Parts: sequence; C-alpha cells; structure tokens
Amino acid sequence: MDLDNRYPAISDLRRKARRRIPHFMWEYLDSATGTEQGMHRNRTGLDNVLLAPRVLHGKVTHDLTTTFLGRRYARPFGIAPVGMSGAMWPGAEAMLARLAVRQQIPFCLSTMATRAPEDLSEDIGSQGWFQLYPPGEPEILNDMLARIRNCGFHTLVLTVDVPSQSRRERQTRGGLTHPPTITPRTLAHIAACPAWAMGTLRHGMPKMPFIGKYSTHKGPLPSTAHIGYLLRVPPDWDYLKRLRDLWDGPFIVKGILNPDDAKRCQTEGVDAVWISNHAARQFEAGPAAIDCVAPIREVTGPDYPLIYCSGIESGLDILRALALGADFVMLGKAFHYGLATLGEKGGDHVVHILTEDMLCNMGQMAIARPTEARKNLI
Ligand SMILES: Cc1cc2nc3c(=O)[nH]c(=O)nc-3n(C[C@H](O)[C@H](O)[C@H](O)COP(=O)(O)O)c2cc1C
Repeated sequence: MDLDNRYPAISDLRRKARRRIPHFMWEYLDSATGTEQGMHRNRTGLDNVLLAPRVLHGKVTHDLTTTFLGRRYARPFGIAPVGMSGAMWPGAEAMLARLAVRQQIPFCLSTMATRAPEDLSEDIGSQGWFQLYPPGEPEILNDMLARIRNCGFHTLVLTVDVPSQSRRERQTRGGLTHPPTITPRTLAHIAACPAWAMGTLRHGMPKMPFIGKYSTHKGPLPSTAHIGYLLRVPPDWDYLKRLRDLWDGPFIVKGILNPDDAKRCQTEGVDAVWISNHAARQFEAGPAAIDCVAPIREVTGPDYPLIYCSGIESGLDILRALALGADFVMLGKAFHYGLATLGEKGGDHVVHILTEDMLCNMGQMAIARPTEARKNLI
C-alpha cells in the first residue's frame, strides 16, 4: 500500500481513524468544549497566518534539526500529552515512546496516561518529557517526581489550564461516562471496531497506573471526583515556585495564553512557556491559541524558549507557529489518528506527512531552517 497516496494529509488519517475507534472514545479524542467555537477559532486563526513566498533564490538546503532546552531533536515538533491514549488506541503510549526514539522527537507522557513512567522506561530512551497534573499532598508530589526522574523522563511540564473541569458536551453525548461504564450502546460501538476490541483484549482494560498508586479506588478507572481529590489542585504561583525548586531539570509550564502570565513564568525561573488552549477542550470563550504567540514573544524577548500547540494539522501550520515566534510545536490528536489508522507505523506516517509538508513549504519560502520562517511573516 502506498501510504502517501492513500493518506497524503492528517485529515485523511482522521477520517479513517474515526471508523476504527469506538464512537464514545472517538468523541473523547476529537471534541472540544461547549459548541466548539474555540476549536474552529483555532483553525481560522492558523489559516489567517500568511507567509510570503520568495522566488529566484536558487537551491536552498533545508535542515529541520532543532536544539531545544539543550537537547537536539530531528524535527521542531513532538508528541503532546494525551490522557487515556491507550484507550483510544490499545498500546498507544508504548508505540509513541518508540516512535519518539526512532524519529528523535520528544514524547510528553500524561499524568492520566494508561501507562506509567515505569512501564515505558525501557522504551523512552532520552526522548521523555512528563506532564504533571499537580497533586495536593506534598508526599505524593515528592514520590511522583522521584518516579518520573528515576524512569528517565528529564523534562517536567506543569499543566495549568485545568483549574476546573470542562463539560465537553459532545463527549457526554457520545456515551463516555466517568468512570466509563459498559452499556448496550457502548458495546455496539465496540462491536463496530474489531481491531480496537482485539487490541484492548490483548493490552488489558485501560487504567491510570501513575495516579493509581495513590488511589484507594479498586476498579480499573476512578471517577472524576476521585481523580479531582487526588490531583488538579488548581496550582498557584507558590506551588509553581515550589515545583521549580524541587525539579532540577528543564521545567515547562503548559497552557499559557496571557502575556503577563508568560512574563511571570519567565521571571520565576520557568525554562519554557507552552502556549496552548488545550485544543479548546477547556474554555470556549478564549482567543485562538495561535493569536497569543506574537504577544507572548514580544514580552518574553527574542531568546526565551516558547512551545506552541492546539490545532496543528500540517507542516505549514508548524511553520506558521514558528513564524509568529514559537521555537517548538507539539501535536496531540494527529498522532492518535495515525496510530488508529495504521497501528505503530501510523506515528511514523504522521512525522513523514509533517516533514514533507514543511520541506515543500520551506522551498516556497526560500528558508533553510524552520525558525527563519519569521522573516516571511506577512
Ligand atoms: C484526548 C485528549 C486528551 C488530553 N489530555 C491531556 C492531558 O492529560 N494533559 C495535558 O496537559 N494535555 C492534554 N491534552 C491536550 C494536549 O496536550 C494538547 O494541548 C492538544 O491536544 C493540542 O492540540 P491538537 O490535539 O490539536 O494537536 C489532551 C488532548 C486530547 C485531545
């Protein structure tokens, strides 16, 4: 099968993935909150970023390697944290860890993943970042940080844009409950997706083993209320300072949209700010995340490391984010579309699509390195 012809774009993988993931899990992966205007705003915001083509420049040799927070990556993009990855495609976390090593890109494991850092320590090599939802209890925090570090995850990401739950009505309509329950309807969804069902039988019912260690809950998945009790203390600046002191590696704060918050993170010794609106899953009325990149770059100065995510669907979108001032880009859903469509090699195909699209567009823009896109911004 010629993957380039069958799936030339991420949207082709998405279309196929939708048929291979049971509907109630698909809606969890793919939905935003409210009427999803925030998700559309993310797309429109990206489409509105225009870049100047340049001609008669002769041959330009492209180089996509990027040094970010002291580490060299083969591409200026990586894999964003996605809770319950393995419930969307069985075995997803281990596949993404191996993908990150093969492709030399970072993989950020979620606190809410269906695999713990211990499960991935053999696979992750030196590509591991870890995303933390902050626990309230100091002993739990200390234990979590030790586990993360001991398993080889060198970069810590604190997510701050979940101070309260979001409603994600489409997800609820799809039949996903907290904790998930098997109903005749969800069974019918599963029956329509035999590859997912067989994979889930092989890999076991999804659990959240990272937080499971601290939970008194005995079933596979605790309720949202119980998770909320353990985690998601809405962190404040004191919490952030404490974490900064406790973590001796690179420390990133994810979910920043406001330039004042970005500046304060910089002042507090955070190594990089991750501009994101969580793919519009948390708050519908906020701005398109891409519209926040330039203002944040302006207040943080030219050299402060900035990451962007939310709504990236192509190599061109990556160049758009870099043109506005980001140094690195992460993608969440796209990698899951790839795995659901093609299994393990689907992740490589996502990297391939993004790479080829970056190279084609860099040719049009006459730039050798992705960050040079800044000079093409219209
Ligand atoms: C199904 C799903 C689960 C997510 N879970 C987490 C999570 O556990 N922690 C986190 O910081 N972000 C989480 N995110 C947000 C992603 O890290 C990222 O910000 C977002 O997906 C990027 O947008 P994109 O999916 O359009 O690339 C999740 C996103 C999705 C789609």
